[in-house]
Amino acid sequence: MGALRVAFIGTGKKPEKAGALGYGMAHMHAVAYQALKGEVQIVALADIVKENAESFAEMFGVPRSGVYTDYREMLAKEAKLDIVSIATWPHLHAPMAIACAEAHAGAVYCEKPMATSYGDAKRMHQISVLNGTKLHFNHQRRFGKPFRLARKMIDEGAIGKLERVEFTCGDIYDYGTHSIDLCNYLNGELGAKWVIAQIDYREEKLVFGAHCENQALVQWEYTNGVMGFTATGPGAKQIGAHNKAVGSEGVIEIGPHDPAAKDKSVLRWRTWGKKDWEYIDTQGESCHGPGYIERAIADFVACYKRGQSSELSSAHALRATEIIFAAYHSSRTHSRVDLPLAIEGHPLLGMIEEGRLKPFKKPQ
Ligand SMILES: NC(=O)c1ccc[n+]([C@@H]2O[C@H](COP(=O)([O-])OP(=O)(O)OC[C@H]3O[C@@H](n4cnc5c(N)ncnc54)[C@H](O)[C@@H]3O)[C@@H](O)[C@H]2O)c1
Repeated sequence: MGALRVAFIGTGKKPEKAGALGYGMAHMHAVAYQALKGEVQIVALADIVKENAESFAEMFGVPRSGVYTDYREMLAKEAKLDIVSIATWPHLHAPMAIACAEAHAGAVYCEKPMATSYGDAKRMHQISVLNGTKLHFNHQRRFGKPFRLARKMIDEGAIGKLERVEFTCGDIYDYGTHSIDLCNYLNGELGAKWVIAQIDYREEKLVFGAHCENQALVQWEYTNGVMGFTATGPGAKQIGAHNKAVGSEGVIEIGPHDPAAKDKSVLRWRTWGKKDWEYIDTQGESCHGPGYIERAIADFVACYKRGQSSELSSAHALRATEIIFAAYHSSRTHSRVDLPLAIEGHPLLGMIEEGRLKPFKKPQ
């Protein structure tokens, strides 16, 4: 097999400072592809901002003939693309991924979160499956040592029978998509049976253009009876760790908030009755990296070459996305939501449109 032909939609500008108004995630994808040396070749890219497209092309050695400002034109003109990386804001993910599937790209590696409605998330998955395009999402954290080691410990029974997975973060949609994906990963990729939640949205919070709640309490049950729980926003401290796995015989914390854990490894565990925590060496890896995107993309490319989807497949991402939208739907309907989730829209947006939520817009 020759070098795989990779294209990009949304290059970003070279980020001077990371932030929710432009990380230039495409650059991180490109560095990961380049690390695979001769296995892949970046042959084309499209960005509506010409200078972003041109500077990305120069940085990654893409020929001028492969530079576009219209992604649909790129998909029409570039023959047989193996992989398309999509690194635009969430509202564009579904139309772009669907266009890639309709152009019969071999695989798509799209940034998280999946989409801005549950209907779009389902459609992009279904149309990709129908067209034979392997759709993936960049939930790269599961490739980190703290999470890999925690999963291994759970599988080996270190904390007895897994009973609960928990996490904390700022919101369930933007950051939470990673965290729910990690909970699903720790529990063996199973889906949920039901979700119950309450949210508060009093101050407008737009992350990459998408509304995110200020505070949430969410509980869900997996098909194997393991429970999931999160508190986001001001209540997040209660859980005490970035991610947590609670078993019949002990507990594992990833990214503990405990000041005593500062300067120690981000992974620790103890069995019930033991006072002291045991810290596990993660060789300098935190909850965020380094090297996670490189590993995730290397694995995705290796799976693609074998004709397979990787563990970052849209089937797995959809399970996390279902919990997110079910949580917003539960808040909207004041009831537990039994899955599969039978809605199309975005319940948080629905509540704003109905005037039931009136998030205060801070003056710029
Ligand atoms: N996986 C992670 O840990 C992680 C971290 C940060 C951001 N993200 C996600 O990455 C995504 C992209 O964020 P970013 O900060 O890289 O964005 P960015 O603003 O840096 O880049 C987006 C690019 O898309 C281009 N664009 C917009 N409309 C387009 C169109 N119609 N056609 C072609 N190009 C178009 C813009 O011009 C811009 O260059 C978001 O969904 C965000 O949630 C993921």
